Amino acid sequence: MNPDFIVRSTSCVYIGSARELLPALVGDRRVVVITDANIDRLYGDMLPYEKIMVGRGESMKTLQTVEQIVRRLIALGADRKTFLLAVGGGIVTDVAGLVASIYMRGLSFGFISTTLLGQVDASVGGKNGVNIDGYKNMVGCFTQPEFVICDPQTLTSLPPREFRAGLAEIVKASIIGDSAMFERLERSSFEELRSDTELLAAAVRSAVRVKAEIVERDERESGDRRLLNLGHTLAHAVEKSSREMNHGEAVALGTALICDAAVKMGLLDSAVRDRVVRLLIRLGFVLASPVPMAKLLKEVGKDKKSEGAQIHLIVPREIGRCEVHTLAKEQLGEWF
Ligand code: GLY
Repeated sequence: MNPDFIVRSTSCVYIGSARELLPALVGDRRVVVITDANIDRLYGDMLPYEKIMVGRGESMKTLQTVEQIVRRLIALGADRKTFLLAVGGGIVTDVAGLVASIYMRGLSFGFISTTLLGQVDASVGGKNGVNIDGYKNMVGCFTQPEFVICDPQTLTSLPPREFRAGLAEIVKASIIGDSAMFERLERSSFEELRSDTELLAAAVRSAVRVKAEIVERDERESGDRRLLNLGHTLAHAVEKSSREMNHGEAVALGTALICDAAVKMGLLDSAVRDRVVRLLIRLGFVLASPVPMAKLLKEVGKDKKSEGAQIHLIVPREIGRCEVHTLAKEQLGEWF
């Protein structure tokens, strides 16, 4: 079984059927599954293992949930040889990855990623973590899962809004490093992306490739990995200030806003910005901020991605090429 991508020499990403891939990947190890009731209802039959159920939604991404899972693992008598398998979207995999990294100082773990957002971003790359007081991923670690299975079949049951959220990260990845995929997206409709599994698998593959190549160079985000935060500086501020937008919707808005800023600063051709905006609107994203810009900029100052008085902005220069601009927080007003 050959992985589609290998990240940091240890983490294998497979794009294919979880049902077919899983048995060989876990072998005869003791497996404990971490998942939620909805996923268990849909895919429980392919998971004949002990299970720990967790709640749904961003509000469960907390240290309390970590503690609850640890208590359940102790009750089950899980030891260092136990393999933790997280099945679900980015929230489940982020929390389970953190638990696996710290329970008894670390267990082997893997993911079956069942949302588009999870497949193209959250579950690949080894970032695990939970939120504190609404600040995203403030406690966490970089630990690579042994494997990630991205099963396109699991995406057919996603509600349209959740599916669209994942598309935002695919568009983002194409702007960072795959102009051919951006052009393919420009020729595709939302409905085609939802129903054409070949097109969708190609889009997932493209986003995972862009991410895997970057994480290979810079796992711990001291350089190029920052590129993956295109659109995220303002997106995190939007998510922090308003409940109106989910992560993907906020990333789409943040990407459009940074394109506007890049045009204003003379770093991006306005025709390229117009292509990005047209594509995002055609895919169904709303690009009006639910929060005034002044409030967003205030939040940006508190983002954990900012280092002291400095902030790293990811600026598109053309489709397929972005660069990191480091500026003082006070300069943000010149950009937006
Ligand atoms: N989501 C950005 C990263 O994994 O670095």
